[in-house]
Amino acid sequence: MTLRLPTLMLGNFRRLAVPSFCRQINTLSGQDFPVKEMTLEVESVLVTGAAEGLGLEFVRQLARLPTPPQYIFAADINQRNLEIVKRVDFNPDRTEIVPLKLDVTIRRDREEVRKAVEELVGDMGLSLLVNTAGMAHIHQLRDLFGVFMEEHFRINCVGPVMLVMEMFPVLYQAAEYKSGVLPYMSASKAAVLHISPWSPFINDDDPMLFYEEEIAYRTSKVALHMAMRCLALNLTNLGVLALQMNPGNVKTTVGQYQIPSLRLQNPLEVSHSVSDMLKTLAQCGKSHQGAFLERNGDFIPF
Ligand SMILES: NC(=O)c1ccc[n+]([C@@H]2O[C@H](COP(=O)([O-])OP(=O)(O)OC[C@H]3O[C@@H](n4cnc5c(N)ncnc54)[C@H](OP(=O)(O)O)[C@@H]3O)[C@@H](O)[C@H]2O)c1
Repeated sequence: MTLRLPTLMLGNFRRLAVPSFCRQINTLSGQDFPVKEMTLEVESVLVTGAAEGLGLEFVRQLARLPTPPQYIFAADINQRNLEIVKRVDFNPDRTEIVPLKLDVTIRRDREEVRKAVEELVGDMGLSLLVNTAGMAHIHQLRDLFGVFMEEHFRINCVGPVMLVMEMFPVLYQAAEYKSGVLPYMSASKAAVLHISPWSPFINDDDPMLFYEEEIAYRTSKVALHMAMRCLALNLTNLGVLALQMNPGNVKTTVGQYQIPSLRLQNPLEVSHSVSDMLKTLAQCGKSHQGAFLERNGDFIPF
């Protein structure tokens, strides 16, 4: 069965927005879930950018959870799909890895992915959406063209936001499905996670923190921060958690070859970064709604 969001609910998004939102997300106090350590238990997860880097590692580690998801939708722009399945160690009796083609910037792809997910998950909905799809290319300011900035915006911000919009109904379905067993917001119920780099505050006065070659990458990710905070307000009313996390400086194509500021630091293994993020994600609840977190759970001010 496919559940569509009631029109009334969509119309009421703004009016129902939680006014104390900004105060809530900057404190760990007042958590709305039990204090004991939580483990992540999701029925289904969609990972974008799943053929390599952080995305592939999310697929690997999710498949090895003590209670693994029934469905892992591994979406890749280049259809390196069979390759993904071969590179992941999973128990076929407990988990099905479903390779999907997804360019986050293409509307038709997003729609096809939503339909494929709906068809398999049915009433359970989609528990977790992990967006790792992203691009980072550098350009000296003198070579910067609008088209280059636009490409970063489309891949790092517009596509991921539109994907969340497309998946609203299935995420809401998951929140409803588990509302009896998990009355509070939780990543084990229904959640969206975006991966974003740490960046200096915009008004920071240390020029060393700003790398002119990264202007397109950084501005597109800051736009994603704002977009996700706005979306998070609305997702609260649907019981869907929305977070962003900084993975650290990780040994991936983006981390090691494309971003000059990351090359200066000691890189982390992908497995280390993803394992930290999954542990943190499992502990997140309503007080983390719309937040930007370090992989260890510390709040990052915007
Ligand atoms: N690694 C780090 O240190 C670090 C630090 C902070 C934040 N991040 C963020 O973490 C995310 C994952 O990066 P990563 O380090 O794992 O790099 P990665 O290995 O290059 O993974 C990014 C993936 O996204 C895919 N992709 C690019 N454009 C896409 C599109 N339009 N639709 C769908 N998929 C697309 C890429 O495919 P192609 O290979 O075909 O382009 C690639 O598979 C990125 O958003 C990045 O900004 C990484």
